[in-house]
Amino acid sequence: MSEPTSMDSLLDDGRRFPPPPAFVATAVAPADIYERAQSDRLAFWADQSRELLHWHTPFTETLDFSGAPVARWFGDGELNVAYNCLDRHVEEGRGDRVALHFEGEPGDQRSITYAELTTEVKKAANVLSQLGVKAGDRVIIYLPLIPEAVVAMLAVARLGAIHSVVFGGFSAESLRARIDDAQATMVITADGGHRKGSVFPLKTAVDQAIADGATTVKNVLVVRRGGNDVEWTEGRDIWWHEQMDSASHEHTAEAFESENPLFILYTSGTTGKPKGILHTSGGYLTQAAFTHKNVFDLHAESDVYWCTADVGWITGHSYVVYGPLANGATQVIYEGTPDTPHPGRWWEIIEKYGVTIFYTAPTAIRTFMKLGREIPQKFDLSSLRLLGSVGEPINPEAWMWYREVIGGGVAPIVDTWWQTETGAIMISALPGITATKPGSAQVPIPGISIDVVDDSGAHVGRGAGGLLVVTEPWPSMLRGIWGDPERFKETYWSTFENVYFAGDGAQLDADNDVWLLGRVDDVMNVSGHRLSTMEIESALVAHPMTAEAAVVGANDDTTGQAVVAFVILKSRYVGSESDQELEKQLRTWVGEQIGPIAKPRTVFIVQELPKTRSGKIMRRLLRDIAEGREVGDTTTLTDTSVIRTINTSVND
Ligand code: PRX
Repeated sequence: MSEPTSMDSLLDDGRRFPPPPAFVATAVAPADIYERAQSDRLAFWADQSRELLHWHTPFTETLDFSGAPVARWFGDGELNVAYNCLDRHVEEGRGDRVALHFEGEPGDQRSITYAELTTEVKKAANVLSQLGVKAGDRVIIYLPLIPEAVVAMLAVARLGAIHSVVFGGFSAESLRARIDDAQATMVITADGGHRKGSVFPLKTAVDQAIADGATTVKNVLVVRRGGNDVEWTEGRDIWWHEQMDSASHEHTAEAFESENPLFILYTSGTTGKPKGILHTSGGYLTQAAFTHKNVFDLHAESDVYWCTADVGWITGHSYVVYGPLANGATQVIYEGTPDTPHPGRWWEIIEKYGVTIFYTAPTAIRTFMKLGREIPQKFDLSSLRLLGSVGEPINPEAWMWYREVIGGGVAPIVDTWWQTETGAIMISALPGITATKPGSAQVPIPGISIDVVDDSGAHVGRGAGGLLVVTEPWPSMLRGIWGDPERFKETYWSTFENVYFAGDGAQLDADNDVWLLGRVDDVMNVSGHRLSTMEIESALVAHPMTAEAAVVGANDDTTGQAVVAFVILKSRYVGSESDQELEKQLRTWVGEQIGPIAKPRTVFIVQELPKTRSGKIMRRLLRDIAEGREVGDTTTLTDTSVIRTINTSVND
C-alpha cells in the first residue's frame, strides 16, 4: 500500500457557509434526520425504502448480513425497478411531467414526459423479450448519451435482466473483455454518436469485439444516431427503430426479488483486469433515491436537475437514471462535450432549461476556471440554487470559484464522496442543514457509518489521517465482483475484519469532518475517471517495442492526476526512431487498447526502472520524477544510479 497523497496541512481555513435561510425554510431533509437515523439505523432505511419506492410485495426483513460480506437488503420484498422509475409516476398523475430534456450536440432537442418514457420502455422491453432476453441475462449497452440509452437500461431492468453499460469512449478491446466476462447475449449500440463536432463510430467497435472473440453475442441492436454508414451482419444485427416502430405499447412489469441483480458496471482495480461490480435492486434503488432527494434537496415538481455524467459511469447510473427517475425528477441530458460548438455550451444549456440543481466533476470546474469567468458570465445562471461535485477531491480554490461564479455566491455546494462500489453517495453535506466547508466532503449521510483508521484498524481521532472505511453494511453496497467472489473478499474485506476498505486516504479535522486525500492503491483518478496503473502497464507491454513499463498518476492542475508512463524499449527498437515519435506511437497504442481516456499525458523512454531488492518497481520515486520533485528516500533501491539515468532521459 502506498502513502495517501498528503496535503501539506489541512486546507481548512475556517471558512463556513451556512445554508441560506430561504433554503432552510423549504429544505427537503427534516432537521432531525441525523438523530432519526442514529436512533435506529435499520428502521430508518426501512422507512426510507417504504416511503420512496413501490414494493409489489412489501418486505418484512430489512438486513440479513449472515452471508457477509454479501448483504441482503429488504430480502423478502419484491419490486420492479423500472415500474418504480416510470409507471407509478404515470399512474399517480405525473405522466405529463418532463422526465428528460435531451440536448444533442448538433443542437437537436427532445423533451420526453414520464408518460412517453414509460411507453418507450414498455416497447423496448417487448423488443428485447421477443429477441429472447429474459431475467438474469446480461445485455451490454454501448451508446452515446441519448434518450435511447436510458430507455435501454430501464427496458433491461424491467425484464429482470442485467445491464452492463460500457462507456462509448472505451475501445473494441475493452468492450470485448467486458462482453466476455459478463457472457452477454446482446449488445445495444448506435451507428455513431456526436462528439466535438463530428461523428464517432460505435458499431464498428462492436463488430471488432465480436470478431475478436466475443462469441456469446446473439444480437446487436443498433440505434440510428450518427447517420454514418455501418457494416451489417444479417441475422445478427437489427435496427432499433424498425423493432420499436412495430412493438406493442403494452407491457406489464413483473415483480422481482429485492436482491435480483440490476447491473454490472466494470471499473478499474489494482490488477490489469477490470472488476465487474454487481449491484442489485431494492437496496440500490432505495439509497439512490434517498440520496438524490435529500443531498440535492429535490423538489420534483419545480426543480430542473442536471448531472453532467455519462451513463457509462456509476454517476450516470445512480444520478441520471435511477435516483432522479425514481423520484420523478425533471432533468437535462446532453450528448456532447462542454466546449462544442463554443466554450459556453453548458452555461447556455443551464440558461435555456432554467436548471436549478447542477452536479459535475472538479476537473470540469478547473477547466472552466482556466478559460475565465467571462464565459459563464455571458449567461443567466440565476436559476441555479444548488451545486454538486463528485469524482475527486475538489480543491478549495475551485470550490470557491464554483460558488462565486456559477452559484452566484449563494448556492450551497455539496461535495459528494462515493464509489462505483458504494452505488450511491456516502459522504456529503445536506444542503439545508450543514454549514459547508470548501474542500471537505464533510459528513456521512444519515444511516451510513464510516470511520478513518490507521494501519491496524484503530480510529485515528480528530486532526489525524488514515484510511477510509465503512463500518456497517449499507443498502446500495456492491454485492460482489461478477464471477469472482474471492477477489471481492480480498479487495474490500481482507484489510480489516468486517469493515469495508474503500481504498481512499482521508483525514478528520477538528470538527470531525472528512477530507479525502486520494487513493492509497494503484488506482489513478484522471478527470474523475478511475484508471488502473496495471491495466495501462499491461497495454504498454503488449506493444511489440516495449520491454518493460511502469505507470504512475502524477498530480495535474486540471485533471487531478495524469497518466505518466516510463517505458524501457526492447534493444532492437532503441534509437530506431526519435524518442518523440516512439512516445507518440505508444500513447496512441494505449488509446486504442483501452480508450482515449487512458492515453498517457507523457511517455518517457528510459533505460532502467527503479526497483527494490525484491524486484518491485518503486512507483513513489517515479511519481517524484513525474511531478518534477527532488527524488525521496532511495535507500531500498538496488542501484541508486538508476535515478540519475532516468532523470537524464526525462530531462533530455
Ligand atoms: O478516490 C475516490 C474518488 O473516486 C473514487 C471512486 O471512483 P469511481 O468508482 O469511478 O466513482 C466516481 C464517482 C462516484 C473514490 O475511491 N472520489 C469520488 N468522489 C470523491 C472522490 N474523492 C474525493 N472527493 C470526492 N467527492
